[in-house]
Amino acid sequence: MIRVLSVASECAPLVKTGGLADVVGALPHALEGQGIEMRTMLPGYPAVMARIEKVADILHEDDLFGGRVAVIHARAGGLDLLVVQADHLFARDGSIYLNAAGDDWSDNAERFAALSWMAARVACEGVGGWQPDILHCHDWQAGLVPVYLRRMDGRAKTILTIHNIAFQGLAPAAKLDRLRIPAEVFTPERVEYWGRISPLKAGLTMCDRLTTVSPTYALELMTPEFGMGLDGVMRDRAGVLSGILNGIDLDVWNPAADPPFHPAITPYSDPAGKAANKAALRRACGLPETDGPLACVVSRLSEQKGLDLLIEALPGYLAQGGQLALLGSGDRALQQQFHDLAQREDGVSVTIGYDEELSHRFMAGADAILVPSRFEPCGLTQLYGLRYGTIPVVALTGGLADTVITANDAALKAGVATGLQFAPATAAALSGALSRLLMLYGKPEIWQALQRNAMAHPVGWQTSAAEYAALYREMLTDA
Ligand code: ADP
Ligand code: GLC
Repeated sequence: MIRVLSVASECAPLVKTGGLADVVGALPHALEGQGIEMRTMLPGYPAVMARIEKVADILHEDDLFGGRVAVIHARAGGLDLLVVQADHLFARDGSIYLNAAGDDWSDNAERFAALSWMAARVACEGVGGWQPDILHCHDWQAGLVPVYLRRMDGRAKTILTIHNIAFQGLAPAAKLDRLRIPAEVFTPERVEYWGRISPLKAGLTMCDRLTTVSPTYALELMTPEFGMGLDGVMRDRAGVLSGILNGIDLDVWNPAADPPFHPAITPYSDPAGKAANKAALRRACGLPETDGPLACVVSRLSEQKGLDLLIEALPGYLAQGGQLALLGSGDRALQQQFHDLAQREDGVSVTIGYDEELSHRFMAGADAILVPSRFEPCGLTQLYGLRYGTIPVVALTGGLADTVITANDAALKAGVATGLQFAPATAAALSGALSRLLMLYGKPEIWQALQRNAMAHPVGWQTSAAEYAALYREMLTDA
């Protein structure tokens, strides 16, 4: 049995701001039966502390960045957890990353350095007879793990998964001592990024292996367009980098058995069963009955997601009888723009907020899901769309390129198409894809074939879990 400690800043169902949480929450279950025993280390935010069932106190440090830090072995949500309790760092209301003004907490560097420090200690000291062979770090928040592990002379292997290179956690060089980062690693080859401390770069340069969440994003990361200043580092490390696609939890996202969790959904296993859900979603969103398609968006509203392109592309689609239901939150200007659009247009419904239950109803009821991202490491909502026969219309980038088979004439003829892709990520190209969506929707036989292909496309964890397990095994045989 290989023991892996997964180290992350969020984990569903306990605390989630995006797809990272879903993946971190799903991995331990996905790896069951693969000879991997995974525990997950998380910060003790209020939402986590309120839900855990404590098994034992295992480690503590009297003063780490200004207060006591303890690691608690606990269970919650079917997960085996090591929770880093540090009230001075994590016992705060509101967002786990941002203060009330919407800015990063000024001590985010310390908060996630504490997580990384305690992970390294667990690796070195073991807890209750459990010592990880591998530390699996996720994103910048766990990037300092290999720095601390080296400082403590730890022997565990390390792997970092890049979920999004746009988030790097940069901190001023003046924090070097405070963060317990040895001066000798503060070099351009390791932790320094243009005079600042880069926890992500630390992980990228010092972990034994790197993965990201799709094969295409693995290639994109090595280019200036997508590497966000770290493309050179990624090219240097190409030999240890691989892309492993995310999966989704087939029990949580199951159109045939949604009701236990979501009573408003009528279950279906054939695309025809979507009709009742579409009618219900229209009623819930105040959208009129029409013969046209209902497309949806469930997303963070940020530059990455390209939803400003949708605002530009929408008039033509609406004029041809299409409708849109959007569920999202984030950028205030975008929220306002979508809100204004919904006021003006009968065919547009906008719900600003974060609502897990409603997101399921969107998947069950909409005909299509739009993901016009400028970049997308993997993306999960297009996978939900496939599973629910809700045709994904996606930009040709990252995981969106790897998970959707575009409905060009050849793919339709071959019977393999599952959605629509467009490139480049511009309003004009998105408009073109929306026109094609309207055209295909107008041909029920073709549309239903697309839906059936989509629903049959494998989107679970099976293949990817086996790839992670193989990688872990390989790491342990490395010199
Ligand atoms: P990212 O992690 O970049 O935001 P992903 O597609 O990987 O993108 O994951 C986003 C996750 O967050 C999905 O599970 C999606 O359903 C969920 N999500 C995003 N916005 C909302 C929202 N407003 N309400 C409910 N769920 C949302
Ligand atoms: C990031 C990416 C998203 C990916 C998720 C989980 O948030 O933006 O594309 O699906 O991580 O890996």
